[in-house]
Amino acid sequence: MNKKNIVLIGFMGTGKSTVGKKVAQKLRMGFIDTDECIEQQEGLTISDIFSQKGEEYFRNIESEVVKVVSCREGIVVATGGGIVTRKQNVEYLRKNGVIIHLKADVDTILRNTSKSTDRPLLQYGDVRKRIVEMLEQRKQHYRNCDHEIDVSGLDVEQVAGRIISFVHEE
Ligand code: S3P
Repeated sequence: MNKKNIVLIGFMGTGKSTVGKKVAQKLRMGFIDTDECIEQQEGLTISDIFSQKGEEYFRNIESEVVKVVSCREGIVVATGGGIVTRKQNVEYLRKNGVIIHLKADVDTILRNTSKSTDRPLLQYGDVRKRIVEMLEQRKQHYRNCDHEIDVSGLDVEQVAGRIISFVHEE
């Protein structure tokens, strides 16, 4: 039987990787993080790929990884926050997956991203302003999903529980 993938999309700092691992563990499914795949493939960190090769290069590798991941079945996929900026990526992921959007308010995103130095798009300028602008630019892309969860104020267990109930309803 073909088992659908569970694909988590959403802005940086919404917990896609942490929650994805938890869901995979609970449902005994495999787990893939597209950013980790990109880092392994390139032998560089995301920050180094951005600084040495540029964002366009990163996006091209990201799209290649999406194609490969979309051929798998029965896995949980945590994606990078910008994966939705190429419509084709979401089309691929949807072929064999349920797309779940994790969304959060700006304060939650700011808090969750403030300590990390591996998010090149949030390393400069007024970060709050940048988050607000990027959320605005991307909001219609994130709406292109099957289910949406506002994770603000929820812990990992709670978010994982909601995802699992969506999947059981399918
Ligand atoms: C990005 C999000 C990051 C990573 C890269 C670009 C984005 O992933 O793919 O820094 O454009 O939103 P996370 O959402 O896992 O932080």
